Amino acid sequence: MKKTLALILALAMALALVACGGNSAPAATEAPKAEAPAAEAPAAEAPAAENTGSGKTVGIAMPTQSSERWIKDGANMKSQLEAKGYNVILQYGEDDVQAQVSQIENMIAQQVDVLVIAAIDSGALTGVEAQAKAAGIPIIAYDRLLMDTDAVSYYASFDNEGVGRAIGEYIEKAKDLANTTETYTVEFFMGSPDDNNAVLLYNGLMKVLQPYLDKGTLVCKSGMTTFEQTCILRWSQEEAQKRCENYLAGFYADEDLDICATAFDGFAYGCRSALEGAGYTKDNWPLITGQDAELMASKNIVSGVQTMSIYKDTRLLAEKCVTMVDAVLNGTEPEINDTTTYDNHVLVVPSYLCTPVAVDQSNYEEILIGGGYYTAEQLAG
Ligand code: BGC
Repeated sequence: MKKTLALILALAMALALVACGGNSAPAATEAPKAEAPAAEAPAAEAPAAENTGSGKTVGIAMPTQSSERWIKDGANMKSQLEAKGYNVILQYGEDDVQAQVSQIENMIAQQVDVLVIAAIDSGALTGVEAQAKAAGIPIIAYDRLLMDTDAVSYYASFDNEGVGRAIGEYIEKAKDLANTTETYTVEFFMGSPDDNNAVLLYNGLMKVLQPYLDKGTLVCKSGMTTFEQTCILRWSQEEAQKRCENYLAGFYADEDLDICATAFDGFAYGCRSALEGAGYTKDNWPLITGQDAELMASKNIVSGVQTMSIYKDTRLLAEKCVTMVDAVLNGTEPEINDTTTYDNHVLVVPSYLCTPVAVDQSNYEEILIGGGYYTAEQLAG
């Protein structure tokens, strides 16, 4: 049954490729290797692990190598799984939904034992998820919830609403919003509408900041405050830069922008370019938030061009996900700490949520260097 399905899939894929005139979807077998550049993103030291993998194969589908965090995620997963004796197929879809579908189809055709998926578009994989289920291959959702499917067993992520709350609380505290008589201008740059995390982050952020918008302590001069108005498809840095340029040109000719409330380090880089282009200097540089504590963002925090980021320890996330892989393959119980929040419209997916931590100039040494995420040399350069 598995073999027949594999054959059908392989045939279907070959046909699809011919139909597309051998298009640019990266062939799954030759997808670029996730290489954590040694100097930039040290893979986690794989802990001495018992051999639970015994030659089984884990197919990992990651969204993109354009952002450093996913390179680290892939590298951590690979090293931790291999330390347990698993074989790993690791592929990146490079933000091309169709390419990710093809990669997963190919992994099913190769009869992987389990799939770990960080989706590009969380709702676009239902077909291929059904194929995996039919082939008896369990699926674990990695960091991004897989929507509209009953084929997902577990979800490993961070407290995504907590990420938004932490960003909001950082702004609230930094500007003393609860007590100040000043007003501050703010613009919002939110995540991709096809990523469930983005909505949760927005909700968490607005739980903290909406009262200050209502009171007038925070003023959004563009008027763009809803999720629909501020979300940015595929978390595009270029689009964030363009939006920021437009806001600055359209609404901030006479008054400075004080706060860029962004949901992602990539957006913070985009805002930085826009602000520099508009002539902002360190005298009127705004508070800029981000997410992931990427290496570049962390360096920008040290130098002061980004104010804060949300540190998400990808080593820990990988560790939790690996326990889920063990669980679905060996019948063990993984650690779960949430069984109510992550409803994907078909089922509430048992989840483990790691805790996000806000980092800025005051604590990066303790958290990022002390925690072994980066070395002092990496952040100094
Ligand atoms: C992740 C974030 C990341 C974003 C963009 C989200 O799903 O949770 O950590 O910044 O994707 O890659």
